[in-house]
Order: sequence, then structure tokens, then C-alpha cells
Amino acid sequence: MKKQRNRTVHEILRQMPYGLYVVGLRGNDGDFNALIVSWLTQCSFDPPLLMIAVRKESRSYDLVKQGKAFSVNLIDKRDRRLARELVKPADRVGNKLKKVTHVEGSTGAPILHKAFAYVECKVREIHEPGDHAIVIGEVVNGGKHGTGDPLMCSDLRWHYGG
Ligand SMILES: Cc1cc2nc3c(=O)[nH]c(=O)nc-3n(C[C@H](O)[C@H](O)[C@H](O)COP(=O)(O)O)c2cc1C
Repeated sequence: MKKQRNRTVHEILRQMPYGLYVVGLRGNDGDFNALIVSWLTQCSFDPPLLMIAVRKESRSYDLVKQGKAFSVNLIDKRDRRLARELVKPADRVGNKLKKVTHVEGSTGAPILHKAFAYVECKVREIHEPGDHAIVIGEVVNGGKHGTGDPLMCSDLRWHYGG
């Protein structure tokens, strides 16, 4: 049963500021997916590690376990419409990358043309402390398509947390 949450704690957690990223994944059968992630942070300089939280009951979690890699695509504030498309669950809308131009990176993960910068990570560890899995990836590659002003949750008045 869900523990009763303290209202103040819920509100504080909702107020925490986050970026908004497009994480790209590739499964064993060559299936691609992309999802919107705000729970993402660097967690080591040496080696350079990023951690992302991926909802355990999602298509994306299956794919990250299969492909053992992910890309992190930085999207400009002007491309917020892309975020609105990619936030939809793959199980409901099917292949979200069908109409989104991308290339396969060196890890196999999709890299979006619209991203002004990206990194690719190889999965090093996965932990399952709660309803999201903590996926820790080592940054093995990265590139720029230009410059940009990274999209934040607050730009869309979106919240993920609480
Ligand atoms: C503001 C915002 C932030 C989100 N952050 C995350 C996140 O950090 N991790 C996650 O698993 N889902 C996050 N989501 C939800 C996923 O983007 C959404 O569930 C998506 O449908 C999952 O993709 P999939 O169903 O195609 O696997 C977020 C949604 C919003 C609106």
C-alpha cells in the first residue's frame, strides 16, 4: 500500500528545478525509442558518469536493459513541441521516432538531429530502489550540432516529482 505522503514534502519536491532531456534508446531487435527525462544528473567526474531514473513499467526501461546504452539529447527551448510529442508513452502511440530525424550513434542509441548537443553512455549499473530504476551510464561519446538554450521543466510548467 502507498505510504501517506506529507503534503509539505510533496510540495517541496515538486518545486525542485530540473532540466528536460530527450533520452534515446535502442533494443535488441533494433527498436528505437525516446522519452522525456528530468531526473538526470552527472554523478562522477572520473569516470564521467550520468545517472537517469527510468520508470520501471515503461517501454524505455525494457530497451535500456536490452541495449545497455542511452543517448542524452539537449533540446533548445524553441523545440518544446518535440518534448510534447516524445512525452507520450510508446505503448500507446507506437514508434515515437518514426517522424523524428535521427541517426544511430556509436553505442546504437538514437541521436536526434534537432538536439543541439548530445552524449552517449554505456550502462554500467542499474539499481531498483523504487518505482524508477537508477541507470548509471558512462559517457563514451558526445557531439554538438550547434549551440542552444537548454529546455527546462519550468519552461513548460511541467512537474515530475512530489
Ligand atoms: C516533466 C516530465 C519529466 C519526466 N521525467 C521522467 C524521468 O525522469 N524518468 C522517466 O522514466 N519518465 C519521466 N517522465 C515520463 C516519461 O517521459 C513518459 O512516461 C514516457 O511516456 C515514457 O516513455 P515510454 O513510455 O515511451 O517508455 C517525465 C514526464 C514529464 C512530463
